[in-house]
Amino acid sequence: MKLVVTGGAGFIGSHFIRYILNNYPDYRVLNIDKLTYAGNIENIKDVENHPNYRFLKADICERGIEEAITDYDVVINFAAESHVDRSIQEPEAFLKTDVMGTFNLLEISRKKGIQRYIQISTDEVFGSADEGQMFYEESPLNPSSPYSASKAAADLLALSYYRTYKTPVIIIRSTNNYGPNQYPEKFIPLFITNAIEDKILPLYGDGKNVRDWLFVLDNCRGIDVILHRGKEGEIYNIAGGNEKENIFIAKKILEYLGKPDTLIKFVKDRPGHDRRYSISCEKIKRLGWQPIVSLEEGLKQTVGWYKNNEDWWKKIKNGEFLEYYRRYYEL
Ligand code: NAD
Ligand code: TYD
Repeated sequence: MKLVVTGGAGFIGSHFIRYILNNYPDYRVLNIDKLTYAGNIENIKDVENHPNYRFLKADICERGIEEAITDYDVVINFAAESHVDRSIQEPEAFLKTDVMGTFNLLEISRKKGIQRYIQISTDEVFGSADEGQMFYEESPLNPSSPYSASKAAADLLALSYYRTYKTPVIIIRSTNNYGPNQYPEKFIPLFITNAIEDKILPLYGDGKNVRDWLFVLDNCRGIDVILHRGKEGEIYNIAGGNEKENIFIAKKILEYLGKPDTLIKFVKDRPGHDRRYSISCEKIKRLGWQPIVSLEEGLKQTVGWYKNNEDWWKKIKNGEFLEYYRRYYEL
């Protein structure tokens, strides 16, 4: 099978490419990534010289990438602007990449007769779940942030391509991922790296917002199952089954690092902050998938990775991230 993976220098995309090359020795992968602030070629350095891997630095919005996509079977679109807080501050890039970039890839896939187009989406498109409420694949979309609204728009566009042109689209919506190589602006890597440096952990609001944590490799295994056994025109949820309040995760990180809870600082809440995400993943379970990494095991492994890879995140935190962080906190 020949796969085009977009956004493969980012967090999840890089794990997915490594997973595919390790598990399917005869598959070929073309990674198309613009290398935005979140893209990091270091994430995928170990496969750089793999005979079945090729990298193209390009924007998914460019029409010109069509040429490179000749003779591929599958497109899997991970490329996105992915951070909610940035989408609140500067939404335009989200509309460009998440909506127009998806449009461009769908157009190319339609023209090239791609056999499978997988849109990597998120549970955030459903918006906030009330206590006891759970969203299913067919639940209505009710996004809260420019990020989730741009992802929801992309999902609807992709489904329209299935209905109108029979482009073989599949949508995958996962819960919050965590693991090695996640850009340290996101909750778990920000809190781990801040704690290592004895800096404060800025907890939004009352710290009781709930996210359902999914270890990144469990997500990759789920995408693999859907790639091979999913049905076109369908949507599949992937959930970690680990719904936890943010304060619980913050305290666990401090416990694993042997740091005091006094590092936690409650700060101003995020505007439009979704209280809780909760999705059912019974549909993918019927295809034979279930998560295998417990939250404790995954979190310990993740803390260990950031402890052992300070060079990776210090380079980021002392560069682009510092500028973003200062702007965000108006320092
Ligand atoms: P990330 O921000 O770590 O990586 C995104 C990658 O896309 C980067 O390598 C970046 O350079 C690339 N990119 C951005 N704009 C591009 C463009 N215009 N053209 C080409 N490449 C571009 O994101 P992630 O956390 O790995 O998320 C990957 C996908 O999974 C996204 O679509 C996101 O919406 C979705 N998702 C993420 C999570 C999560 O918890 N991280 C959960 C559910 C869904
Ligand atoms: P985040 O990693 O940005 O993911 P999401 O897309 O789910 O918002 O944030 C996860 C949760 O952590 C979310 O409820 C917001 C919260 N959070 C903080 O409390 N402090 C922070 O500095 C960050 C980045 C997030």
